[in-house]
Amino acid sequence: MTDTKKSANAMWGGRFAAGPDAIMEAINASIGYDQRLAQQDITGSRAHAAMLAATGIISDKDAEAIREGLLTVLSEIETGEFQFSAALEDIHMNVEARLKEVIGEPAGRLHTARSRNDQVATDFRLWVRDQADAAIIGLEALIAAFLDQAEAGADWVMPGFTHLQTAQPVTWGHHMMAYVEMFSRDLSRFRDARNRMNESPLGAAALAGTGFGIDRTMTAEALGFDRPMANSLDAVSDRDFALEFLSCASICAVHLSRFSEELVIWSSAQFRFVTLSDRFSTGSSIMPQKKNPDAAELIRAKIGRIMGAMVALFTVMKGLPLAYSKDMQEDKEQVFDAADTLMLSLAAMTGMVSDLTANKAALASAAASGFATATDLADWLVRDLDLPFREAHHVTGSLVAMAEAKGCDLPDLSLDEMQTVHAAITADVFNVLSVDASVASRMSYGGTAPVRVREQVAAWRDRLAKSGAR
Ligand code: ARG
Repeated sequence: MTDTKKSANAMWGGRFAAGPDAIMEAINASIGYDQRLAQQDITGSRAHAAMLAATGIISDKDAEAIREGLLTVLSEIETGEFQFSAALEDIHMNVEARLKEVIGEPAGRLHTARSRNDQVATDFRLWVRDQADAAIIGLEALIAAFLDQAEAGADWVMPGFTHLQTAQPVTWGHHMMAYVEMFSRDLSRFRDARNRMNESPLGAAALAGTGFGIDRTMTAEALGFDRPMANSLDAVSDRDFALEFLSCASICAVHLSRFSEELVIWSSAQFRFVTLSDRFSTGSSIMPQKKNPDAAELIRAKIGRIMGAMVALFTVMKGLPLAYSKDMQEDKEQVFDAADTLMLSLAAMTGMVSDLTANKAALASAAASGFATATDLADWLVRDLDLPFREAHHVTGSLVAMAEAKGCDLPDLSLDEMQTVHAAITADVFNVLSVDASVASRMSYGGTAPVRVREQVAAWRDRLAKSGAR
C-alpha cells in the first residue's frame, strides 16, 4: 500500500493525495447522479419483496419488514437526511445498505432472485416512462396554447415565406396550426415510445433468469408494466427505450427551435409581427430600448444539449456485446439532462405562446407588400383568360417589374397599365389582388383559408379532448 502511494505520488506529484483506489471509486461510482432513481428503485424493490413473499421465496414477515423499511429509507431520501456514499457505488447499494441499518438481517433477503442488472434496467425504464408522460402533458399544454392563438387569428393575414422571402399571403391561424401538427406528431411519438417501453425487465436477474420460482407477471403488474420482457438477455442489455425517448425529444426540440427562431425574427424592430410579454423577455444592461427574446433564443439553443445526449447514448450503446457492460452506467446522466431541458423548454415555450401578442396591423401591412398576390394574379390569368400557366407566369412577372419600377404594389397599377402587358386583362383582376381575397380563395384541404383553419382548430380541440393523440 505504501509502495503504491509512493509510486502514484512519483507519477502524479504531490497534488494527488489520493491513491488509485480513490480514483477507481471516483470513476466507478454513479451515486452522484443515479440518486435521481431513488423513488423508482424503492418502488421496484417493494414490488420485488412482495412477490418474493407471495411465491414463498421469503417469509411474509421479512417481506413486510423490507417493504416498511424501504419506505423509511425513501422518506429519509426525500427529506434530505439520507447520507449518500460514493463507496457504496450506486443508488441500489446505498438503499440496500441503509435498509440493513434500519431493519437488520431481513434486508439481506431482498436481493434474492435479482441482480443490479435487472434492477437498474427496471429503475431506468420507470424513470424514462415518467418523463414520456411528462412530455405528453407538456405537449398537450403547448398545443392548447397554439390552438388559442390560431383561433383568435384564424383570418389575420400575414406574409407566408419561402427562403424567408415573401411568397404568398397566409393566415396567422394557419401558421399556428402548422405547429399544432408538428407538436401533435411529437406527442404521438412519445405515446408510441411509452407503449413500447412498457415491459418489465425485473426478474431477468443478472442475465440468464433465475432458478427461483419467481412471478414476473406479478412484479410487472405492480409496477404498471404491460407484461414482463420475454428475453432476460435483452431485458438487461438494451437501452433502446432511452434512445427512443431521446430521439422523440430531439425531434420535438427541432420543432421548438424552429418556432423560437421565428419568434426571434418576428419580435425584431424590423418585423414587429409579435410582441413578447414582459414575463418572457429581458432587458439589456446597457441599451435601455432593448427587449430581448432570451427565452426563445435559449430554447433555440437547447436542442444542442438534447441532441447531444442522443448522440452520446447512441455512441455508448453501439458495439456493446450482450449482456450487461459497465459502459451502460453511462446511460443516465445525459438522459436526465435532456429530459430536464425538454420539460423546461416546453414550459417556457407554452408561456411564451400563451402570452404572445400578434400585431395584426403589422402582419397585414407586411402581407400586402412584396407582391404577395402575384401567384393569385397568375392563377386569374389562367382561370379567366385561359392562358397557359407558363405564359401567365411571364405576364405576371412583367406586371411585377412594372409595379416595382413605379414603386407601387400590384393593386395600385391601373387597368390601362396592365393592358399594355396583356390586352385581354379586365377590371375583374382587381378582385384577386387583395390579400384577404387571396387567403380566402385557398380553400383546398390543408389550405390557408380562414374556414379551413377554423375547421382544423375544431377538429384538433375535439381530438385532444378525446384522447390527446392521433
Ligand atoms: N450502477 C450500475 C449501472 O448503472 C448498476 C448495475 C451494476 N451492475 C454490475 N454488474 N456492476 O449500470
